[in-house]
Amino acid sequence: MPEAAQLSVPELLALDRQHVWHPYGPMPGRDDPLVVASASGVRLRLAEPVEGRTELVDGMSSWWSAVHGYNHPVLNEAARGQLDRMSHVMFGGLTHEPAVRLAARLAEIAPDGLEHVFLADSGSVSVEVAVKMCLQYWRSVGKPRKQRLMTWRGGYHGDTWQPMSVCDPDGGMHELWQGALPRQLFADAPPPGFDAPPDPAYEAHLRELVARHAGELAAVVVEPVVQGAGGMVFHSPGYLRVLREACDEHGVLLIFDEIATGFGRTGSLFAAGHAGVTPDVMCVGKALTGGYLTMAATLCTPAVADGISRGEVPVLAHGPTFMGNPLAASVADASLDLLLSQDWAREVKRIEAGLRDGLADATAAEGVRDVRVLGAIGVLQLDHEVDMAAATRAAVREGVWLRPFRDLVYAMPPYITGDEDVARICAAMRAVAREG
Ligand SMILES: Cc1ncc(COP(=O)(O)O)c(C=O)c1O
Repeated sequence: MPEAAQLSVPELLALDRQHVWHPYGPMPGRDDPLVVASASGVRLRLAEPVEGRTELVDGMSSWWSAVHGYNHPVLNEAARGQLDRMSHVMFGGLTHEPAVRLAARLAEIAPDGLEHVFLADSGSVSVEVAVKMCLQYWRSVGKPRKQRLMTWRGGYHGDTWQPMSVCDPDGGMHELWQGALPRQLFADAPPPGFDAPPDPAYEAHLRELVARHAGELAAVVVEPVVQGAGGMVFHSPGYLRVLREACDEHGVLLIFDEIATGFGRTGSLFAAGHAGVTPDVMCVGKALTGGYLTMAATLCTPAVADGISRGEVPVLAHGPTFMGNPLAASVADASLDLLLSQDWAREVKRIEAGLRDGLADATAAEGVRDVRVLGAIGVLQLDHEVDMAAATRAAVREGVWLRPFRDLVYAMPPYITGDEDVARICAAMRAVAREG
């Protein structure tokens, strides 16, 4: 095999097809991915031109994580500085400043009452940890029968086993595993519309399910305000208040999965802020490191931690090898400094206005069923499934990187995306709706 740096694009693609699994892909791969040589600001640079383009404006923030864009000098410096000190040490019996600073910072900015932080290595793992915390809590306080989870339909919480069990059971990508997965309790999907007045019948449905199943429920787990990979749908924060009340009334823990919504994406630092409620357990990931390195966190209240720590097995039995990775923690800390030192809310509002403007025309376009925007999230829902290859070509011709799924063409651009680039992303989304 040639030296890595000397691979031509055809060589690289041939080896990729032969050896490399891609997300949600077959083996060997069927569609050639685009080869990225470097990335800077909001632009991805391709190794060779595609549809006449070598630079693409990134509409995806690398699956919603690169909120500050790529190759950011402050994040680069944090990574370099930490690399010179140590890239990793185990976290059992040892601790270090990057992880301690990050945990303290997360506790400070999270909704009031979330004080303890478990650092995990990916969003899915942080959800596994959240579930384990809740089950272990009930076991520790003498209610071991409370092992089931409740969620609402249309959700997505990751690809490992427990998270898959609370993903949408019908029509979602994990439907294949029904029967093998633990059988969880599903409420109907929340009625759509961030601004729609909460539906009393739906609120009653949520309350009734929690009340009826409280004896077996360890926790209710939901994505607050935005259901992301399950369908890019927004709902009223009012339903989160209803869940909080019902869980409190019937002794069930509440988990918010803020992996997609955390760190400003919806216009509030955490989506829980729209509802003014604190969950018992909260997961964050994705934008935590500004999209540089994989790290997530599970936060919980002192009541949850005390319950676990007073149990028959008074420890949380989880400890990944790369827990608290200093490189990732340093970059996460720098990323949070960067976010909080600027008026991120103004930038998200500006992008929201740009997306509303740029997608307004699409409302009447043929093939478009719905247009919705919330914070720095813009969605076109089509009346047909996209043809991924045609959709990619259409976006690339406009000089934009998008990755639609099912009937959804959406963008979640980095917060540093300028107005012209937001307009360009919207043009590409409209082109995908026409041609994809
Ligand atoms: C709401 C939500 N939860 C969990 C996950 C899983 O995170 P990861 O891909 O880091 O495992 C995702 C990823 O898209 C997500 O959007």
